[in-house]
Amino acid sequence: MSTEHQDTQPHSNHLVAATDDRIDRSFDGIADHFEKKVYGGLKGEIRLAVLRRDIFGYVEQLSQSLGRPLRVLDVGAGLAQIALELAEQGHHVVINDISANMLAKAKASVKQKSTALNISWHVCPYQALAEKLATDNVGKFDLILCHALLEWLAEPKAVMDFFDSQLTDDGVLSLCFYNPASFDYRNLIMGNFNLLDAVSEKSNYHADNKKSLTPSYPVAKEEVASWLQQHHYKVIIESGLRVFHDYVSLKRGGHNDPEAVIRMELRYSQQAPYKWLGRYLHVMAMRQA
Ligand SMILES: C[S@@+](CC[C@H](N)C(=O)[O-])C[C@H]1O[C@@H](n2cnc3c(N)ncnc32)[C@H](O)[C@@H]1O
Repeated sequence: MSTEHQDTQPHSNHLVAATDDRIDRSFDGIADHFEKKVYGGLKGEIRLAVLRRDIFGYVEQLSQSLGRPLRVLDVGAGLAQIALELAEQGHHVVINDISANMLAKAKASVKQKSTALNISWHVCPYQALAEKLATDNVGKFDLILCHALLEWLAEPKAVMDFFDSQLTDDGVLSLCFYNPASFDYRNLIMGNFNLLDAVSEKSNYHADNKKSLTPSYPVAKEEVASWLQQHHYKVIIESGLRVFHDYVSLKRGGHNDPEAVIRMELRYSQQAPYKWLGRYLHVMAMRQA
């Protein structure tokens, strides 16, 4: 196995401050908790199944038509499962996260693999990445993965300018983000009306618990759609991740069969109206430069 390891020192500024008291959320202190809660069970398997289906099909097609491996960037990569699988498929992958602990976990999973992979690692806020990539003379990317990062950024919209600077002219963005509508719907089903009243009075929701995986700064799909339009992207794929799994309080029938749940999640993930109820939404959009 030969992987190119670089720039892996923890970044001194783990929390990137915006203009007010909002800060980007590094997962350094909750890496174990995140791994267990998000990827330790069926929830994570559904998430990865939908992302694999959406991304790998497109990547194979594009790579064939270009006649070369793709250049892929994973920003806010965490455990970087999809990026690492793309590297195993032969693509050139750059992996970034603000958290050294998260990338250490991703690297540990690479060590278990035996083939030669083309991966470079950057522990830093994505806001410092363009400069590092320019210094390393790294070109633009055919595909950028940005999964479950948006909702942890103090200034989520600003990441769109970063994508513009790093994507090739007809490059594709794979943007997966928390769907705030799913929070409302789940709490409606659970009868948590007091919570919904409190949230609507505050007009946003902040979990006080430091280990909470409830996103700090959720962005509605309409807002993301308007950013994509302003930045001249054409949406090519839209899916919902976990369109029914998280709403089930009484497990019956097929709910007891994890494979069947994944099969049904995949089937309904691209059908309206179900896809709009996904806990996360996945949009693949091509830049029209
Ligand atoms: C919810 S996790 C998502 C990880 C992975 N992309 C996934 O889908 O499983 C969010 C990740 O974004 C990272 N992060 C937060 N702010 C960041 C920033 N400004 N630059 C780069 N990564 C950041 C966190 O450390 C964390 O690993």
